[in-house]
Amino acid sequence: MSTPGAHSTLHLTRRLRRLRRSEAIRAMVRETRLAPDMFVLPLFVCGGEGVRREVRSMPGVFQLSVDEAVRETEAARRDGIRSVLLFGLPDQKDDIGSAACDPEAPVQSAVRAIKREAPEVLVATDVCLCEYTDHGHCGILVDGEIANDPTVEQLVRAAVSHAASGADIVAPSDMMDGRVGAIRQALDERGFEQTAIMSYAAKYCSAFYGPFRDAAESAPKFGDRRSHQMDPANAREALREVAQDVEEGADIVMVKPALPYLDVIARVKDAFGCPTAAYHVSGEYSMLKAAARNGWIDEPRAMLECLTAIRRAGADIIITYYAREAARALA
Ligand code: PBG
Repeated sequence: MSTPGAHSTLHLTRRLRRLRRSEAIRAMVRETRLAPDMFVLPLFVCGGEGVRREVRSMPGVFQLSVDEAVRETEAARRDGIRSVLLFGLPDQKDDIGSAACDPEAPVQSAVRAIKREAPEVLVATDVCLCEYTDHGHCGILVDGEIANDPTVEQLVRAAVSHAASGADIVAPSDMMDGRVGAIRQALDERGFEQTAIMSYAAKYCSAFYGPFRDAAESAPKFGDRRSHQMDPANAREALREVAQDVEEGADIVMVKPALPYLDVIARVKDAFGCPTAAYHVSGEYSMLKAAARNGWIDEPRAMLECLTAIRRAGADIIITYYAREAARALA
C-alpha cells in the first residue's frame, strides 16, 4: 500500500492550489489591491472649539469642532489618507434648512480651515438638507411631501457656498431629481467650473444609515425617506439613476450602501466605466465594531475583507469610517 501524500495518485493537469502555497505566490497572482489613496474619510463637523464627542453608536467616530476636524484631517493625512468628506451639525435648524447655505456654518468654516492648514488634502462636502431641517427631512416640505424643485434650489445654494469656501468636490446625497444638472449650471455660472460633483446616484433607502443619524443628528421626526431614496429591490433603476446623473454632469457616481449592493456597484462600473464610488456606510461599520467588541470576529481581517470585496466589485473610491484604520493596516 502506498503512503498517502508520498506521490500523486491522481493525474491533475490543473491544480489551483499551486498558486496559493505561499504568501509570495498569492501576492503575485492577487487580482484586487487596496491603497489608502482610494479611501475617503467622513467627518462630522460641529460648532464650538476643542469639541471631540464620540458617537455612541459608532465607536471611533467623533463629532468634531472645526479646529478638531483640522487635527483629525492632519492625523489622517499622516496615515496616508488624502481626502475627507464633510457633514455638518449646525447650531440652528429651521424648516427650510437655511444653515446649509450659511458661509459661517461648520462645514463651510471647516473647508476653509482644512484648505488653509492642509491644502493638499482633497475636501468633499455632503450636500443635503436633512442635517439642517428641524423636521429632519432631506428637503423642503409642501403639504407634508418633499417638494422636489424648491429643494433643488436650496441644494444649489448649499453647493455654491461649499464651492465658494474652497471645496474640491460637492457631493449631493439628497436624491432629488435634477439636482446634479442644476448644481453644475450654478457652479459654472459663478466661475466654479473646476469644482467636481460626486453624486450619490444610486442611494438606497437603507436601514444601515441608522448610526449615521445619531452622528449627524438627522433622523426624520416623522415618516421615512422612501419617497426619494431607492427601493433596495431595484437594480435596473439604479442604472437609470446613474445614467441621468452622468448626463447632467456628475464627475463621479456613487452607490450606497456598499456591501449589500455589490451587484449594483459591478453593474454601474460595467455599464458606465466612469469613476465609481461606494459608501461603506455607518451601519456596515458599526456592525463590525459591535461584533469585534464582543470578541466575535477578527476585526482587522473582517475590515480588509469587506473593503477588498467593495473594490473587487468595481469601486474606484471607497468612503469609509475605517479609512484611517485600513490605511494603517495596509502600511
Ligand atoms: C444625508 C446622508 C445620509 C448618509 C450620507 N448622507 C443619511 C441619510 O440619507 O439618512 C448616510 C451615511 C452613513 O450611514 O454612513 N442624506
